[in-house]
Amino acid sequence: MINIGIIGCGNISNVHMKSYLNNNDVKVIAVCDINEKRAKEYSKEYNIPNFYNNHRDLLNNKDIDAVSVCTWNNSHAEITIDALNAKKHVLCEKPLAMNTKEAIAMEKASKDNNKLLMVGFVRRFGRNATILKDFAEKGFLGEIYYAKTGCLRRNGNPTGWFSDISKSGGGPLIDLGVHMIDLCRYIMGKPVAVKAFGVTNNLLGPRLDVKMVDRYSPVDKGTLSNVEDFAKAMVTFENGAVLSIETSFSMHIKEDYLFCELYGTKAGAKIEPEFEIISNIDGYNVDITPNYSKEKNFFQDIFQQEINHFIDCISNNTTCINPVKDGVDLMKILDAIYKSAKTKCEVKIT
Ligand SMILES: NC(=O)c1ccc[n+]([C@@H]2O[C@H](COP(=O)([O-])OP(=O)(O)OC[C@H]3O[C@@H](n4cnc5c(N)ncnc54)[C@H](O)[C@@H]3O)[C@@H](O)[C@H]2O)c1
Repeated sequence: MINIGIIGCGNISNVHMKSYLNNNDVKVIAVCDINEKRAKEYSKEYNIPNFYNNHRDLLNNKDIDAVSVCTWNNSHAEITIDALNAKKHVLCEKPLAMNTKEAIAMEKASKDNNKLLMVGFVRRFGRNATILKDFAEKGFLGEIYYAKTGCLRRNGNPTGWFSDISKSGGGPLIDLGVHMIDLCRYIMGKPVAVKAFGVTNNLLGPRLDVKMVDRYSPVDKGTLSNVEDFAKAMVTFENGAVLSIETSFSMHIKEDYLFCELYGTKAGAKIEPEFEIISNIDGYNVDITPNYSKEKNFFQDIFQQEINHFIDCISNNTTCINPVKDGVDLMKILDAIYKSAKTKCEVKIT
């Protein structure tokens, strides 16, 4: 039995919690939130024996083997490093950190303590991503030379800490773009990024005046927004491939739109908005739709796979498919895009 602590008792922690409850090899024995009332209520709701208002007190609990870090982005590095130094395994939500410097320090703490640090790149656990990754690894797409991805929201600024740069590190690029860039890079075989050119804007703001429209919001709402509301970038890789990413929190677009397309020398493929493979067989163009049993509840199911994998890595020493290095590589790309947007120049990634 692996004993778990959950740090941060907001929205996403509930999805972690439900996934732990469905895993027979674990028990959540402690939770923590800087909002003590929230931690207390959460512990009551899920019947968890210990609650704390400070992550260090939770980490002093010797019975805890591993933790989920589900807090604001600005505390991921500190909490994760403290947890690793306390000899706990860590599953840290995305983005790994606020920037590359923090991410490298987290990677070092994982190595120094010989404890697992897994990054919450949950989209990798979707069945669509798993199937396409398998195809790509077996060479069915040929050489993937172009990826085009994005996550565009019309009225999707969550506000609260998400749009306070001191707590989030940025807007839709670090929040949504991080998933999409990672998904493409993962399927492409994790090529090394060498350059980025990006543009960010904050022209529309959070659009709080828009009436009768639901949006994702954190447990503590707010009105401030000092992050970008739109980002567009191009990233080039050592192997010559190129990736285009676009993200928005606010945009005059008809519908929110998620897309992920990859183009190889033998086939092209989309996994969002729907899964399709575009190729040529024996001189004929073919459009192929993979036939598989889809997740009943995509969001909860991919988290369940992520949590099951985290526990499997700890219990059976299984190789982690979301290692900390991938989180560090992603932070390098994000830092370069933000720097490029600031300097209006292409930025080298080292
Ligand atoms: N993988 C995904 O698809 C996904 C989806 C949503 C959020 N997230 C990530 O999960 C994290 C949390 O997001 P959320 O939507 O749950 O936010 P939230 O605001 O709903 O919850 C965050 C909680 O963390 C607590 N907190 C903040 N700093 C803390 C600290 N130092 N110690 C203890 N508690 C602290 C807050 O009080 C709050 O209760 C973020 O990093 C976000 O990017 C990931």
